[in-house]
Amino acid sequence: MADFSNKVIYQIYPKSFKDSNGDGIGDIPGVIEKLDYLQDLGVDYLWLTPFFVSPQRDNGYDVADYRNIDPMFGTMEDLDNLIAEGEKRNIGLMFDMVFNHTSTSHEWFRRALAGEKKYQDYYIFKEGAPDQPPTNWQSKFGGSAWEYVSSLGKWYLHLFDVTQADLNWKNPEVREELKEVIRFWKAKGVKGFRFDVVNLISKPEIWEDDFEGDGRKFYTDGPYVHEYLKELVRDTGIEDYVTVGEMSSTTLEHCIRYSGAEEKELSMCFNFHHLKVDYRGGDKWKWELMEPDYMELKVIFEKWQMGMQRGNAWNALFWCNHDQPRIVSRFGNEGEYWKESAKMLAGMIHLMRGTPYIYQGEEIGMTNPHYTSIEQYADVESRNYYEILLNEGKTKEEALEILAARSRDNSRTPMQWTDERYCGFSDTKPWIPVSDNFEKINVKKQKQDRDSILEFYKKLIMLRKEKEVIARGNIEFMEVENAGVLAYTRCLDKQKLLVCCNFRDVESQMEFTQEWKSGRKILGNYEENHKNNYKVLTLRPYEIIVLEKGEE
Ligand code: GLC
Ligand code: CA
Repeated sequence: MADFSNKVIYQIYPKSFKDSNGDGIGDIPGVIEKLDYLQDLGVDYLWLTPFFVSPQRDNGYDVADYRNIDPMFGTMEDLDNLIAEGEKRNIGLMFDMVFNHTSTSHEWFRRALAGEKKYQDYYIFKEGAPDQPPTNWQSKFGGSAWEYVSSLGKWYLHLFDVTQADLNWKNPEVREELKEVIRFWKAKGVKGFRFDVVNLISKPEIWEDDFEGDGRKFYTDGPYVHEYLKELVRDTGIEDYVTVGEMSSTTLEHCIRYSGAEEKELSMCFNFHHLKVDYRGGDKWKWELMEPDYMELKVIFEKWQMGMQRGNAWNALFWCNHDQPRIVSRFGNEGEYWKESAKMLAGMIHLMRGTPYIYQGEEIGMTNPHYTSIEQYADVESRNYYEILLNEGKTKEEALEILAARSRDNSRTPMQWTDERYCGFSDTKPWIPVSDNFEKINVKKQKQDRDSILEFYKKLIMLRKEKEVIARGNIEFMEVENAGVLAYTRCLDKQKLLVCCNFRDVESQMEFTQEWKSGRKILGNYEENHKNNYKVLTLRPYEIIVLEKGEE
């Protein structure tokens, strides 16, 4: 399998990236307009979240036609253009394959509803009485995971929204259909794929109630998932393409198989354990506010980094995506240390072992928007949970406070390009409100500032290209018991790096061994040099220091 260790991937949420035709919705020509910016940033691939024909119940993750572009995003010609223009700049396109489910508006589902047996077998339909769902499983967006179709006398499974029906991967015809989709985009010149919730595709043989949880233990990393993935990759000939699977509630053991060098499944995996340290106790705690547990974060990073290294498997490195709140608002500091904390978090994740992902706006330290009314939210999960929270007895204010920290819309606000009205994203009112801080936080401003977060990201990308130790070095963690600091070394032959990060808004200290006395500082987020006595390293609030030893 090909090596993606010195690549950097940039994620675009097209709806919120750049509107080219003044309808308030970002689009494909908008992405083309910004390719020079992305080339200048230095990224190798763009992962675009789905822009296929869709009723947009879940912002495009409810696909109604895998081979056509939703008119709101542009035309096939625009897409061909994007691929070609990307190629000119050495930027490959990665498309998002939502293969666990389709929209209920997909032709297959409509034909299933119309009674065609062939297409009923594309989905997971179960006979049953209208008051007795086949199992007690819960949808990830709230409510039952089953929906009754009275005209058929059957239930169908939807792990997500009721308009997202799960596909039946046991049916070889379904697998063939999906392979055809890959072949179609491959022929267009697409260079990689992201597979949505792909570890949920293999459902259990026996359908039983879950008395402890929402049912996920029965279908997560299911019985044939590895076989299905191998088959899909082999039969479409994408072994050497960049492929990443989104792995929901997975385990290290499975991820070693999904992305292991010998397995020929995927190039790398997204896992989310490090993004649950502020909802300890499982996913339902997403909807309770609590402080992040940084000790737990350290334990998780160490476990996954070391485990994947031992297993000769490969991590996707990320803090942000279109489902997560902004990292600077979450683990950093939006106030006094906004800039320092954004840079520290960037360095911490980019210098680990794996391929880094940057989510649009992260490179300028975009924050959560702090919406104050439910009308400002568009996301189906947020709207559902708002109702659920009210039903559980929370006040409106409490529910809104929770959404302001947890909602997926936190990352879906328009990309802040300039300090003009609608932040240079559009010249009309965007589909979702712009964050109030766009005059302070925008690309234009940071391009003029050599000390900006944007410049820091550029530097990180450049360093990965220059220094093999970042791309391919071994990782080892230090200061494991130290709650304020996350530190690690990277090592490749004689090249060695030491990365020290302070999580806190106060000073932290760590041991500074003799060995690093001769280390050269190659990166940091404070201008003046630190006064250290070479026994103890004192890190200022949210400081990151990267030292290098050995050959250039
Ligand atoms: C993934 C996507 C998310 C979507 C869900 C269902 O988690 O990232 O946005 O809602 O799958 O497709
Ligand atoms: Ca538009």
